[in-house]
Amino acid sequence: MSNDAITNESETFEIGTTAVHRLGFGAMRLCGEDIIGAPDDEDDAREVVRHAVDCGIDFIDTADSYGPAVSEQLIGEAIGDRDDVLVATKAGLLRNDSGDWISHGDPDYIRNQVLTSLDRLRTDTIDLYQFHRPDDDTPFEDSVATFAQLKDEGLVHAVGISNVSAELLDRAREQVEVATVQNRYNLNDRGSREVLEICADDGIGFIPWAPIDADDLAEHGGLLDDIADEHDATRRQVALAWLLERADVMLPIPGTSDPAHLESNVAASHLSLSNETVQRLTEAAD
Ligand SMILES: NC(=O)c1ccc[n+]([C@@H]2O[C@H](COP(=O)([O-])OP(=O)(O)OC[C@H]3O[C@@H](n4cnc5c(N)ncnc54)[C@H](OP(=O)(O)O)[C@@H]3O)[C@@H](O)[C@H]2O)c1
Repeated sequence: MSNDAITNESETFEIGTTAVHRLGFGAMRLCGEDIIGAPDDEDDAREVVRHAVDCGIDFIDTADSYGPAVSEQLIGEAIGDRDDVLVATKAGLLRNDSGDWISHGDPDYIRNQVLTSLDRLRTDTIDLYQFHRPDDDTPFEDSVATFAQLKDEGLVHAVGISNVSAELLDRAREQVEVATVQNRYNLNDRGSREVLEICADDGIGFIPWAPIDADDLAEHGGLLDDIADEHDATRRQVALAWLLERADVMLPIPGTSDPAHLESNVAASHLSLSNETVQRLTEAAD
């Protein structure tokens, strides 16, 4: 597929009260190695964020734990608080210098983190604030209730949850209106199929993280290669287009720190797959 005119042709979906194009951008990869510390060139990283917006991306996903703090800081510096871009961030994970991701859903901690995220993102209100991952040491309801309170207090427009089962989604919905669920989902990994179906039925945004399986699409190589050839596209573009066709609540956030990769990913929104092709891909791993 040619990348001549890079525009985001994906349809829109309303997160809270804001319509965004369904193909977004994941900003985790802007950080240094292992998502710890700053990238080698922070100017380049800020430029990737600005370029994403220039290509029509109006939905950017990040988290306080990316860096930690680095990804949010770069986004804040690159684009500030733009009305035409929805920045979704998350809280609930700690990092250490081994690069571990440690669940921490303590309400006081979440309340501390929202203040630091607001500051780094240079905004008065977080557009979408997501609970990153359930924490075995804190009752799930206590963590989610904190996100609900932050929404009531006006620090947060909409609340999302991440890495949850169908049962936890149900429990969260008793506490707060859940705008989005962010779970791992891609051609190779359909573990969250049931959660996706609930989201599709109930109009909840579903944000598949690792939408190109962290660039490991080898498992369906043959089929993907055939379909990519038929469409003059790349495997990654087919994988993203498949996600977009799979459900109209689907909001893929491919992550990259490379402007050419970014353009190629946005160009996946130009790709139209027939129902039969979507079916072939869906059946390949279901
Ligand atoms: N909620 C959660 O627990 C959770 C967990 C992980 C991630 N996330 C979110 O999901 C987003 C995406 O996940 P992800 O980054 O792990 O996986 P991904 O988007 O499936 O894949 C990213 C990897 O693919 C490469 N890549 C991307 N586009 C490419 C292209 N066109 N050509 C060649 N290589 C390409 C990237 O390297 P280059 O930089 O070299 O392009 C990077 O190594 C993250 O940014 C983050 O916002 C959420």
